[in-house]
Amino acid sequence: RPRVLSGIQPTAGSFHLGNYLGAVRQWVSLQETHDAFYMVVDLHAITIPQDPAELRANTRLAAAQLLAAGLDPDRCTLFVQSHVPEHAQLAWVMNCLTGFGEASRMTQFKDKSAKQGADRASVGLFTYPILQVADILLYQANEVPVGEDQRQHIELTRDLAERFNGRFGETFTVPSAYILKETAKIYDLQDPTVKMSKSASTPKGLINLLDDPKSTAKKVRSAVTDTDTVIRFDPEAKPGVSNLLSIYSTLTGTGVGELEEKYAGKGYGALKTDLAEVMVEFVTPFRERTQGYLDDPETLDSILAKGAEKARAVAAETLAEAYARVGFLPAK
Ligand code: TYM
Repeated sequence: RPRVLSGIQPTAGSFHLGNYLGAVRQWVSLQETHDAFYMVVDLHAITIPQDPAELRANTRLAAAQLLAAGLDPDRCTLFVQSHVPEHAQLAWVMNCLTGFGEASRMTQFKDKSAKQGADRASVGLFTYPILQVADILLYQANEVPVGEDQRQHIELTRDLAERFNGRFGETFTVPSAYILKETAKIYDLQDPTVKMSKSASTPKGLINLLDDPKSTAKKVRSAVTDTDTVIRFDPEAKPGVSNLLSIYSTLTGTGVGELEEKYAGKGYGALKTDLAEVMVEFVTPFRERTQGYLDDPETLDSILAKGAEKARAVAAETLAEAYARVGFLPAK
């Protein structure tokens, strides 16, 4: 079986619709066909200032949401990044292989550090993508299911894998990004030209899966569209409507073309009302299942402990090989 690996940050509490449609949804289907490793990336979460108690709670919350979304611990390996020390260890080796200029070109770093004020950004935020490289290479992943915003980090991973292999001999699998076109980038409901994210300019543009379903329905009904009235998928000319169609199509498994036909001659109001309902039907059981896992932290922690054990077995083997390749004297 080919292998997949991916990760999600626990920073934000509730996952948003972009996280789910862009990534987590694919994780669920890939566990059926791939040897799948999925993790909550708490090491990445401390690249910006964090509250310790919140980080702990949000790490469990992230794991609970992943299970609620459909990850099955019998079909995939679900773990917490800091439970597997090899991530930080391989990251160091990769840091030493990355050019300063190369790291400086990472656009997510530029965006995030600009937000904090460049001087206040941590060195950890700067090397964030290199830790991500280590995450992926440790598991010899063939594919990495993510949203479009992670593409550059996967490119860096490929470059560094090839560099390491070229310099020290074949060691790492060179991975590919697994990005589905339809959901690569889910847009803000109020500003459909920017991606949906926690740093949205208004909360009305962001769908948090754990929010009250009523408020979610309201956000969908007040989504920004355009002054035209035709329901047609055309991301250039009609970004708002196209975003709603993508979301609707993915959540229901109905083709975008079919939706265009279904809503031919109807107004935006009808589309939004129906999508609001679809969304409520999706988030209501999702919230309940998440709460169910949170109510039983012992079971949750034991799932994560088993996952860490499985992950470590793979990670330790890769790290030992990489250490030997770079010339570290084995500890006898
Ligand atoms: P994170 O936690 O920011 O996001 C988790 C996943 O959600 C996707 N995503 C979106 N997809 C479509 N539309 C959107 N609006 C949208 N917003 C977010 C992201 O692309 C991501 O796949 N650096 C990663 C975490 C990470 C990782 C890894 C991923 C750490 N190590 C190794 C893959 C492999 C991140 O911050 O994702």
